[in-house]
Amino acid sequence: MAIAKMNSLFSLLFISFLLLGSQSYGEERKVYIVYMGGHTSEGVSSSSLSSHLGMLKKVLPSGVSATDKLVYNYGRSFKGFAARLTDDEVKKFSEMGEVVSVLPNTKLKLHTTRSWDFIGLTQNRTLRLPTESDVIVGVLDTGIWPESESFSDSGMSPPPSKWKGKCQTGGTNFTCNNKLIGARYYNSENDPSEIKSPRDVEGHGTHTSSTAAGRPVGDASYFGLAEGIARGAVPEARIAMYKVCWLSGCWSADILAAFDDAIADGVDIISVSLGSDFPSQYFEDPIAIGSYHAMKKGILTSNSAGNGGPFPISVSNYAPWSLTVAASSIDRKFVSNVVLGNGNTYIGISINNFNMGNSVYPLIYGGQAVNVSAGSTELISSYCIDGSMNTEKIEGNLVLCNYGDGDETIYNAKGLGMIMSVDDNLQDVAFSFMFPVTIITTDDAREILAYIKSTSNPVAVIKVSDEWSDPLAPTVVSFSSRGPNPITPDILKPDLTAPGVDIIASWSPMASPTGYEEDKRSVNFNIISGTSMSCPHVTGAAAYVKSFHPNWSPAAIKSALMTTAIPMDPRKNEDAEFAYGSGHINPVQAVDPGLVYDASAQDYITFLCAQGYNTTTLRQVTGDNSTCNGIGLGKAWNLNYPSFALSVPDGGYATGSFYRTVTNVGPPNSTYNAIVFSPANLTISVVPSTLTFSQVGEKKSFVVKVNGGRLFQQPIMSACITWFDGKHSVRSPLVVYTTILPFDMDTDVTALSSLGRPNLAHKKKGRIGGN
Ligand SMILES: *[C@@H]1O[C@H](CO)[C@@H](O)[C@H](O)[C@H]1NC(C)=O
Ligand SMILES: *[C@@H]1O[C@H](CO)[C@@H](O)[C@H](O)[C@H]1NC(C)=O
Ligand SMILES: *[C@@H]1O[C@H](CO)[C@@H](O)[C@H](O)[C@H]1NC(C)=O
Ligand SMILES: *[C@@H]1O[C@H](CO)[C@@H](O)[C@H](O)[C@H]1NC(C)=O
Ligand SMILES: *[C@@H]1O[C@H](CO)[C@@H](O)[C@H](O)[C@H]1NC(C)=O
Ligand SMILES: *[C@@H]1O[C@H](CO)[C@@H](O)[C@H](O)[C@H]1NC(C)=O
Ligand SMILES: *[C@@H]1O[C@H](CO)[C@@H](O)[C@H](O)[C@H]1NC(C)=O
Repeated sequence: MAIAKMNSLFSLLFISFLLLGSQSYGEERKVYIVYMGGHTSEGVSSSSLSSHLGMLKKVLPSGVSATDKLVYNYGRSFKGFAARLTDDEVKKFSEMGEVVSVLPNTKLKLHTTRSWDFIGLTQNRTLRLPTESDVIVGVLDTGIWPESESFSDSGMSPPPSKWKGKCQTGGTNFTCNNKLIGARYYNSENDPSEIKSPRDVEGHGTHTSSTAAGRPVGDASYFGLAEGIARGAVPEARIAMYKVCWLSGCWSADILAAFDDAIADGVDIISVSLGSDFPSQYFEDPIAIGSYHAMKKGILTSNSAGNGGPFPISVSNYAPWSLTVAASSIDRKFVSNVVLGNGNTYIGISINNFNMGNSVYPLIYGGQAVNVSAGSTELISSYCIDGSMNTEKIEGNLVLCNYGDGDETIYNAKGLGMIMSVDDNLQDVAFSFMFPVTIITTDDAREILAYIKSTSNPVAVIKVSDEWSDPLAPTVVSFSSRGPNPITPDILKPDLTAPGVDIIASWSPMASPTGYEEDKRSVNFNIISGTSMSCPHVTGAAAYVKSFHPNWSPAAIKSALMTTAIPMDPRKNEDAEFAYGSGHINPVQAVDPGLVYDASAQDYITFLCAQGYNTTTLRQVTGDNSTCNGIGLGKAWNLNYPSFALSVPDGGYATGSFYRTVTNVGPPNSTYNAIVFSPANLTISVVPSTLTFSQVGEKKSFVVKVNGGRLFQQPIMSACITWFDGKHSVRSPLVVYTTILPFDMDTDVTALSSLGRPNLAHKKKGRIGGN
């Protein structure tokens, strides 16, 4: 299973690379997004549909209907449309002055590695009522199962009056209520595989929504495992589902349409547990574009960092105006042991709910079930590869296999169970299976093989999972994507980490719990892992903060979550902040951060100018009078970000100054002192080192100066700066490293504007081979 899922993940990477590199020919029409930036003035131009149709008419040959080719008319929150276009027509639109960019409809991926194990979410919090019920969480995902108990509206009042969304039932039995106040679906590629409605047949969207804001459900469990209460962070908040992912994937035109609606519908926080495998410019990335417009309207977007770890520069969704969430473990681990006939016990990691009782069963090694007529060998069959096995020898036995996707092979050959060996560093998540399977280390597998060969009647049993406590938690899990930031190396990403390993939450009863077609079981709760699961924890935490501070900006909420995060131990994650950013989320403390690093839309404009956008391109994007005049190319150091990153070219000097401004959101009269921790070879000064406030909302500025020697091939060096008033610790990590990107984003924006960057693509292909 592990490998089956990993393989399909890697082949998707590969396929999307091929697609990006391929050309479409001649008259073939494909969906493109013609993106025209923000509105010139507040409010929606009622003529946007007719003007977009007018643009289409000018470009389409006579006889081709503009209405037929139009897929979406964006315009509620920003300008543009999606349409079926030929290469020629794409070229014509690209040359139009008012068009910012023409983007192909690309497929993005959910950030869950399906069938990974789970651990329960057990936090109970004080509710901030009635304001919590005014908070609306918008989720872009696979849809939702409205009948799930997590979305019961018992005792809930009608939606807040600001709500302008709707329940798009698609003529099906889908219904909304006072908890699930809205649901829409987007299907630009006419995926025929599912009923056209916001109903979730995949499970993912039901899981993420209930994690963020589900109501408490007692007696939740996965076949008796992880039993307890399942609940979201903000059980009284409202949920609006925007279904952008179908069994075929999540298309960018649909994602943009969903942002356009969610912003105008009046959501407060947007949760996006999906992303692209390849880095792209902010304005070529539908999630960066959508979340930019959300930020302008005061809405924070929480994103998953991606499941491309542990490789460097694998992080996705790195726009500075949104939150990027890594995934870490919680203090519960699913252990399913193997007991041999000789009494030896081996620790396995698995979510195994199948009880084989106290008996033992015959045990064979995959390499002993070679199908010679299929041309297999002992080596091939030891991986239990489909088509390589003598199925008669498997039936009725437990089978020991090398790391691979053999579990489906063994299941279909009527094996009783499977013991799979895997590299130690992949044992940090558990998977669930269709029959008794557990995953052990390669060393233990060698001992078990020696036992099999030492006796004429080898027997074993695989035990039902036990829940063990994990003293190492939280640790960022191996699959969680790592920094540094591929586009802006001087903005640290990911921003923080949250639970994303073995998470139990609601599930669609139409979806199989393991993701296998053969698995006909139906569950209301499932245990899975991914940054898809950590993202809604942060969404929920952001909604929780919002319920206390309805008027805080997206940057203020983000700052509160980052500066109160609990520091992580670099001994457990050697890539340190590139794994966990500011640290482990602490929602209760985030309500009272003391100081915040605020930022406005203008601050992000300044940032974009410094990154190489000019006034012309900037205005096309923002649609307002913003200008890059007087803002030269520069580092991202002066964006008022709650963390600090200094990337140094190889052989360069570690020298930089960061200008920051903090806003007092704590007691009116307070005095903060700067506390600096840094490695001996970095000199860090904070000037002034004391900040005195006499009012709430008062702002004070300071500068952080970093001085170090010349750096060569320097991995991440971690320091931190904490403002402390005796009660509030406002902590920001500061990292220094030599740039490991194959390009320098700061100096050349245009050269990087194409999606399929070969250098990175080759790295990813390397992973496929390497794994
Ligand atoms: C929250 O849950 C924990 C453990 O589940 C329990 O010890 C604690 O008493 C609960 N707190 C409240 C306020 O219910
Ligand atoms: C609604 O339709 C779905 C899918 O067709 C079905 O599984 C579900 O049971 C129906 N729900 C109700 C309440 O009728
Ligand atoms: C061996 O492989 C052949 C060809 O794939 C297949 O037809 C046959 O059923 C297999 N034999 C057994 C015993 O599984
Ligand atoms: C702004 O940038 C665009 C794209 O790089 C370029 O085509 C244009 O000439 C630039 N405009 C100015 C005024 O420099
Ligand atoms: C912005 O541009 C509009 C015309 O597009 C102009 O009327 C307005 O005065 C400008 N505002 C500022 C602040 O420059
Ligand atoms: C803050 O300090 C000022 C001057 O020291 C004092 O006048 C004021 O009452 C204090 N405010 C609060 C809320 O303590
Ligand atoms: C600075 O110190 C850190 C550890 O404290 C070390 O990893 C790094 O290599 C040192 N860098 C230089 C340039 O000496």
